[in-house]
Amino acid sequence: KGQPRVFSGIQPTGEIHLGNYFGAIRQWVRFQDEKKAGKYEQCIYSVVDLHAITIPQDRDVLEKNIFQAVATLLACGIDPNESILFLQSHVPLHPQLSWVLGCLSTMPQLGRLPNFRDKSKKLKEVPLGLYTYPVLQAADILLYNATHVPVGEDNVQQIQFAQLLAQRFNRIHGRTFNIPKIMLEGGMWCRLRSLRKPENKMSKSEPDAKSRIGLTDSPDEIVEKIKKSVTDFTSAVTYDPETRPGVSNLIMIHSLCSGQSAEEICNSVQDLDTGKYKFVVAEAVVEHLRPIRTKMIELMKEPAYLLDILKIGTEKAITLSEPVWNDVCFKVGI
Ligand code: ADP
Ligand code: NA
Repeated sequence: KGQPRVFSGIQPTGEIHLGNYFGAIRQWVRFQDEKKAGKYEQCIYSVVDLHAITIPQDRDVLEKNIFQAVATLLACGIDPNESILFLQSHVPLHPQLSWVLGCLSTMPQLGRLPNFRDKSKKLKEVPLGLYTYPVLQAADILLYNATHVPVGEDNVQQIQFAQLLAQRFNRIHGRTFNIPKIMLEGGMWCRLRSLRKPENKMSKSEPDAKSRIGLTDSPDEIVEKIKKSVTDFTSAVTYDPETRPGVSNLIMIHSLCSGQSAEEICNSVQDLDTGKYKFVVAEAVVEHLRPIRTKMIELMKEPAYLLDILKIGTEKAITLSEPVWNDVCFKVGI
């Protein structure tokens, strides 16, 4: 117990975008490197398909998105020999632990979580899965007794809920779960915004695909999307996320791709207006994504290989989770 273990997940609900990459996946790769250096015992990364179906999915699209998510993670540098990469639904203990934890959750607590509030607002009748998915998310983490959870800023309250459930279980049944730490590298700095509605975060679930840059977008698509991105009526390029979210988001994207600070960028493009600056940003994004895109296109031609990777990951995930689950069953008396 107490072994440092990293867990994180990504939903196969659409093409993985720059926000996911800079907010989450890049960190996953760094944790994997740190694991090699002995800092962590395991890095466990899951494509969380059971979360994806909390909103209606077309089966063909979902299946394609699952393969694409696996290919993306590999292309971004997740090494299946170093990390455990698997599909959530392949490990039935996730929903089983979720049931046990659900029995410790209360309805008001779930109703207050911001993700639920946002998503349910748009629906006439709210599916039970959408309501309880933070419980499943807690199970994802606690099933491996994870200690570190790298997530984007939009996920913090959900992970806090997982911490609360771990504490509650421990209080009732004695020390069982580690309290997972939220690993929020970069914080707000890595929260990318929608290119079309900069007041919102960049998300797979926004219907307008022009609002996000997918990791396999072609150079032309990238240029087009950035060119059409919403900025404001001021033509100078200045970084001010509060009053100028659109152009600041572009500067942030540029900074993340180029390694320059926002200040350095603003100084170096003083003589450009936002219209011309967009082409500079697009160029930086195209260059940054080029190797990932090439690798992904290759991997998508190898579905059998991707399935093999998942199969190996599933076996490792089951081996790691069974002792935790057995401990839970013993403590609960089931
Ligand atoms: P999405 O909201 O795009 O469907 P997921 O819910 O699958 O993404 O989240 C996968 C990871 O990406 C999470 O750790 C989440 O915090 C992070 N993430 C999602 N959107 C953004 C964004 N716009 N900026 C930064 N990180 C993000
Ligand atoms: Na999300």
